[in-house]
Amino acid sequence: MCGIITYIGNQNALPRLVDGLRRLEYRGYDSAGVALLTKDGLWVRKAVGRVEALSPELIDPPETTIGIAHTRWATHGGVTEPNAHPHIDTDGNIAVVHNGIIENMDALKKQLEGEGVVFRSETDTEILPHLMNYFYRGDPLKAFTTALKQVRGTYGCAAIFKEHPDRIFVARNGSPLVIGLGEGETVVASDPQAIVAHTRRVVYLEDREIAVVTRDGVDVMRLDGTAVETSVELIDGDYGVADRRGFPHFMLKEIHEQPESIERCLRGRLDLNQGNARLGGLNMSPRDLIGVNRVINVACGTAYHAGMVGAQAIEAMARVPARAEVASEYRYRHPIVHPDTLFFAVSQSGETADTKGAVEEILLKGGQMMGVVNVVGSTIARTCGRGTYIHAGPEVSVASTKAFTSQVTGLLLFTLMLARTKNLSVIEGQEVAKNLQALPGLVQRYLANPGPIDDAVERLIHARYALFLGRGLSFPVALEGALKLKEVAYVPCEAYPAGEMKHGPIAMIDEETPVVAIVPNDSQREKALSNLKEVEARGAKLIIIHTEGDKELEELATVSLPIPACPWYCSPIISVLPLQLLAYRAGVALGRDIDKPRNLAKSVTVE
Ligand code: M6R
Repeated sequence: MCGIITYIGNQNALPRLVDGLRRLEYRGYDSAGVALLTKDGLWVRKAVGRVEALSPELIDPPETTIGIAHTRWATHGGVTEPNAHPHIDTDGNIAVVHNGIIENMDALKKQLEGEGVVFRSETDTEILPHLMNYFYRGDPLKAFTTALKQVRGTYGCAAIFKEHPDRIFVARNGSPLVIGLGEGETVVASDPQAIVAHTRRVVYLEDREIAVVTRDGVDVMRLDGTAVETSVELIDGDYGVADRRGFPHFMLKEIHEQPESIERCLRGRLDLNQGNARLGGLNMSPRDLIGVNRVINVACGTAYHAGMVGAQAIEAMARVPARAEVASEYRYRHPIVHPDTLFFAVSQSGETADTKGAVEEILLKGGQMMGVVNVVGSTIARTCGRGTYIHAGPEVSVASTKAFTSQVTGLLLFTLMLARTKNLSVIEGQEVAKNLQALPGLVQRYLANPGPIDDAVERLIHARYALFLGRGLSFPVALEGALKLKEVAYVPCEAYPAGEMKHGPIAMIDEETPVVAIVPNDSQREKALSNLKEVEARGAKLIIIHTEGDKELEELATVSLPIPACPWYCSPIISVLPLQLLAYRAGVALGRDIDKPRNLAKSVTVE
C-alpha cells in the first residue's frame, strides 16, 4: 500500500521520481506528491488522483538531483491534497514520505500541539517531519533516529533536510524498502519494480534498520545506532516495464498470459518418468517429506482461495490433513504450531502485511515455513528463506488472475511430491505429472473459445445480488469468482458451498437472481446438480460452468459455459477462467476502472 521512491544522483531527479511513481502506482493511487531539494529549499507539489494528475502541477520545476516522492492509499484521513505526501515540518525544512501506520499518533500529536505545532493534515505521517524538526539541532541523523524511536507502529519512510542536500535518510519497520545502487546514483523504493530502471544491485533494508543514502552508496545501521554489515544482492526476475501489449487492460492481458505463466511455473519441475515433481527451493528430502503430518496454507484474498484449493488437493491426493487459514485471523489466534506441520505462506506480492505477520508468528513458534511467492526477493520470500517462486511474471492489475492459477499450480506440484512419498504409486504419479503438463494447453484452448460470456454478463450487471455456488474444489473457485466480480465490477454477490446454501442464503433467491454455479464433472457433480435444482425451483437464473458435453447441465442452464474436461485436481485452474472473464467484462460493461478499482491497492502492506 502506498509507494515510495527517492532519488539522489547525477541526473535530473524529477523525471526519475515521476517514472518511479508510475511504476509504483499499482500500490496505491489516491493521490501523489513529490518534494525536491533545491538551493532555495524544498519544492513540493501534490495532487489528488493518479500520478498523471500530478503532471499539471509540475510547472517550471527546478533542476535538482535529489528528491523524494509518494503515491498514496489512504489510511489516516481522506483523499485530499493536504493529506497527500510528502509532509513538511512547520519551518519548511524537512520533507517526509511514509508507508505504514503510526499507532501512537494521538499521543504524539497532542505532545507536538502542546509545543505549538499546527497540523495541516489529518495523517499520521505528518507527525514525522514535526518530530524530526523538534529534535533537530544541526544533526539530521540524530533528529531522524530520535524521532523514529518515539514512534510505535510500522513504517517505511524517507526524509530530506533542507540543510543537507547530499543525503536522504530512510528507515524500515514492517514496511519494505529496497536500496538500488547505481553508477553515481542511489535509488530507494518500496519495491524493486521502481529500481530496475536504474540498477539491479540492491540492498534490502530489514526491520528497525535505517540508512543514510548518498550518491555514492549507502550506510546502513540499526535504529539503536549499531552498525549493520550489508550484502549487495542482484535482483533477477521479470520486472520489465509494464506494457499492456495491445490489450485494453492489464487484467485482460494477464488473463490471456495464463498458458505461459502456468508453463513457467511447471518448467523443469516435473519428472514424467518418476511421476514426481521437484521443488528445489523447498530443500526437502523424501525423508523430510515423509515426516510431514499436516499442511497449513496461510494467505489473504485470492492467495487464500489458492491455498484452499491446495489444501483440498493435498488431503485428497497425499492423504495428509491440510487446511488454509486467513492470515489476519491466524496470526492473532495464538496458533498451535507443531514441528511436523509444514506451513506455506501464499502471496503474489510477498509484501502482504497480514501474511507476513502470520509468517513471523509461525517462525517464532518454531514452525517449518515455506513461501509460495511471485515477486522475487520480496519480504515474505526472504523471511521464509525456503519455498517456491511461482514465476507468474509481473502482475499489474489489482485484481489477481494469473497469480491464482500459478499459485494453485505450485501447490499441485508440492501435492504430487508429498503424495509420491506417502501413498501414490509411480504409475499414478506419472498420470498426475502428465495431466499437470497438459494444463497450459487446456488453458489456451479454453481462452481461444470462452463461450457466451457476454450473455452471462448481461444477467450479472443488472443484478441486485448474485450467488456463486460450488462444492469441493469448486467452492474456493466460487469464492474467487465472487471476489473478482466485487473487485472489478462492484456487483453485490457472495459465494457459498452449494450444499450449505439451503441453510440460509436461499432466502435471497428470487426470479431476478443470477446464480453462478461451478460444476465440473467430478465426484461432487450429482450433489451439486441437486442443489442447482433447488435454486432453479425458486426462479434463479443459472449460469453454469460445466464440463464440455455435459448435456444435462447445459439444458438446465440459462447460460451454459462449457470448459474442457480435465482431472479433478486441475479443474480449479480451468473453471476459474470463465469467472475471470465474467468479472472483467462486467467491469467493462459498467464502465469501471478495471486495473485500479476503487479503494483497492495491489499490495496490502498495512494490517
Ligand atoms: O500479494 P498477495 O497475494 O499476498 O495479496 C493478497 C490479497 O491482497 C490479494 O489477493 C487481493 O485479494 C487481490 N486484490 C485479489 O484480486
